[in-house]
Amino acid sequence: MNTLVQRIETAKDANDKAVQSSMLSPRFYTTDFAEINRINIEPLRKEWDIMMREYEGDNNHDHFQRDASFADEVAQSMTQLSKEMRQEFIDFLVSSLTSEYSGCILYNEIRKNISNPDLKQLMAYMARDEARHAGFINQSLRDFDLGIDLGSLKREKAYTFFKPKYILYATYLSEKIGYARYITIFRHLERHPDKRFHPIFRWFERWCNDEFRHGESFALIIRANPHLLRGGNVLWIRFFLLAVYATMYVRDHTRPMLHEAMGLDSATYDYAVFDITTQITRQVFPIALDTDNPKFRAGLAKLFTISKANDLAKKQGGWLGKLKQAWFVSQACLVFGKLYLLPIKRQVLTADVRMEPVW
Ligand SMILES: [Fe+2]
Ligand SMILES: [Fe+2]
Repeated sequence: MNTLVQRIETAKDANDKAVQSSMLSPRFYTTDFAEINRINIEPLRKEWDIMMREYEGDNNHDHFQRDASFADEVAQSMTQLSKEMRQEFIDFLVSSLTSEYSGCILYNEIRKNISNPDLKQLMAYMARDEARHAGFINQSLRDFDLGIDLGSLKREKAYTFFKPKYILYATYLSEKIGYARYITIFRHLERHPDKRFHPIFRWFERWCNDEFRHGESFALIIRANPHLLRGGNVLWIRFFLLAVYATMYVRDHTRPMLHEAMGLDSATYDYAVFDITTQITRQVFPIALDTDNPKFRAGLAKLFTISKANDLAKKQGGWLGKLKQAWFVSQACLVFGKLYLLPIKRQVLTADVRMEPVW
């Protein structure tokens, strides 16, 4: 039995899981709105206006509706899944919904608290898209009577404060990695339709184009403010690259059966996603992680082993469990530090900031 995935049997379990804050669960963020308000995108005005027209065109306005065969496909395929597999899939849905909704809340809060017309308009468009994404996943949770109450999630979940530049690096990366994750699954299932055990995966192609465009917006903001890419900020970029990649790796490895059911191996999938993300980040980051370095790969595998041991210690409880947890956390920090110090790759920024989602 997979003891790494918390059992979700009732709507209360699903809501508790979404509210929970842990190292691996998606978080909600807040930031310094006055500083965001002062961000200037003028150096890339032409590119900005083109992007705004794309948002305005809203090519996905009709996408997030279920078609006639959706319910039939769910009824047919879900009965064939084992109980454990179902648990991993539900865990995946809850965690994806929390990420989507996290974006929706952050973008909406920024929109409400600033007057800068460029950023305000952007935040309204992105919040619109993320609300659709979260709502669409929630419909699939409701099929299992596990719908999330988004209003109470917004009220009850803890918020993490991030300085605006951290928000820019982290959000840029999560949008692009989100694109890479969805498109890798979509392309794989396109080649192996027999492995598509839920209709939601049919939506991923147009869906991930939204995420790609959200990432483009942050790329423009960062490139319009080049001080964000120099000096000590490069160390922060390095930190966020590693934090985002490592979290994804460990989180995905807690759900091995989900990938297996699609005919994917978690590690192969994750490294394919890192490859795409690294190619995309050439539009904005002067450095990239060398994810092919055997030491890098061994380090991520070690982090997963530590995370599993830490979970067992948490379940054990008591003072001994707590002591073990403290030990594992210190071990994880050590491995993270070693990974941080591995050689990185320098990359030359693309002349044009904008990229096309060609994967
Ligand atoms: Fe999204
Ligand atoms: Fe997004």
